[in-house]
Amino acid sequence: MLAGRRIVLGVTGGIASYKAVLLCRMLVDSGAHVIPVMTESAQKFVGRATFDALASEPVRTSIFDDVDPIPHTTLGQTADLIVVAPATARCIGSYASGISDDLLTATLVATRAPVVVCPAMHTEMWEHAAIQDNLKTLVDRGVIVVPAEEGKLAGGDAGAGRLADPERIFETIESALSGGDLQGKRVLVTAGGTRESIDPVRYVGNRSTGKQGYALAEAALARGAHVTLISTVDLEFSAGINLVRVESAQQMSEAVFQRVDADVIVMAAAVADFRPADVSNRKIKKDAGPPQIVLEQTQDILSALGAAKRPDQVIVGFAAETEELISHAQEKLQRKNVDIIVANDVSAPEVGFGHETNEVTILEAGGKQKHVTLRSKRQIADEVLDAVTQMLVK
Ligand code: CTP
Repeated sequence: MLAGRRIVLGVTGGIASYKAVLLCRMLVDSGAHVIPVMTESAQKFVGRATFDALASEPVRTSIFDDVDPIPHTTLGQTADLIVVAPATARCIGSYASGISDDLLTATLVATRAPVVVCPAMHTEMWEHAAIQDNLKTLVDRGVIVVPAEEGKLAGGDAGAGRLADPERIFETIESALSGGDLQGKRVLVTAGGTRESIDPVRYVGNRSTGKQGYALAEAALARGAHVTLISTVDLEFSAGINLVRVESAQQMSEAVFQRVDADVIVMAAAVADFRPADVSNRKIKKDAGPPQIVLEQTQDILSALGAAKRPDQVIVGFAAETEELISHAQEKLQRKNVDIIVANDVSAPEVGFGHETNEVTILEAGGKQKHVTLRSKRQIADEVLDAVTQMLVK
């Protein structure tokens, strides 16, 4: 996706500049043409020789040291994207105010390409109203800000203000350049069957393998979304997906509700409806005879999402049925108050659990129904996301 794309990498200083080295490497490895621009202070932390060696072109540092008499406009006009990582308070302030006081800020002001700004600073600075106002100004103008994170800071301090990890920045760049119809949207997908403990060795489970959920996460990523996948299984997934591993229905519920502000939530997981009421903390031994396992109901995550649904949010559920597919799915659509139910007859050949293919009917709350004949789970995922994007634009 990044092959041949011209990316200006602005490095503005601070110890976090070492992460810019990693980011530069990731971008070059993915085929991007990377042009580094360093400020004076950045060069005090990581030498320009490092970026000279890694990037696709030598480092630029000043408007005046270039053979091109107007390097900032040339860089700004020819860039497919500009990323500033780390972005200091000074750089953010200059950019927000339209002040071009060095090559990088001049380039930022002289571009129409998408810009990704990744702040890094001490907590006191990060929380200062001036910085937050400047970032809000940039966001309102369409700049993509990758927020600073909590963690260790320079000088032994810890707190908010740490530069986001290069993987996260890379994923944001990919999605900004993908131009997909879910660009910038936060999509949460659940995958796999939950496991409900009986004792430390045994569990109550189901036949779901998570393949349809992973296919949905990959398809959403390819359409430019920020994707979080909450999964009970380990399958291969793209670097841009934020994976959260869980096991039980309870853990899945907690992970989902921590991210309930997502624009789209797809509950593809086969969540257990019942779990053992008492979990033995020791292995149940055979000598005592067959145990009586009393089950209790788990929370219905999809119903809880449906009950709290925002008007701008799209909630998708699945209905794995073995009989009366459409009427059962229709009933779930209404009872769980969701926007879309993807219904599949898991007793049909090549459909549902464990297979590479699926055949579904997509039922929408407005009454629309679409039958999608047998095809790969990725193709099914794209059909589901087509219905989702239609709803998001309304
Ligand atoms: N689901 C959920 N939480 C549960 C059970 C199910 O969020 N505790 C979600 C699934 O992820 C799926 C949808 O609900 O998207 C349909 O699940 P299903 O088990 O088919 O529906 P139930 O309401 O449990 O109905 P029944 O078992 O009677 O078919």
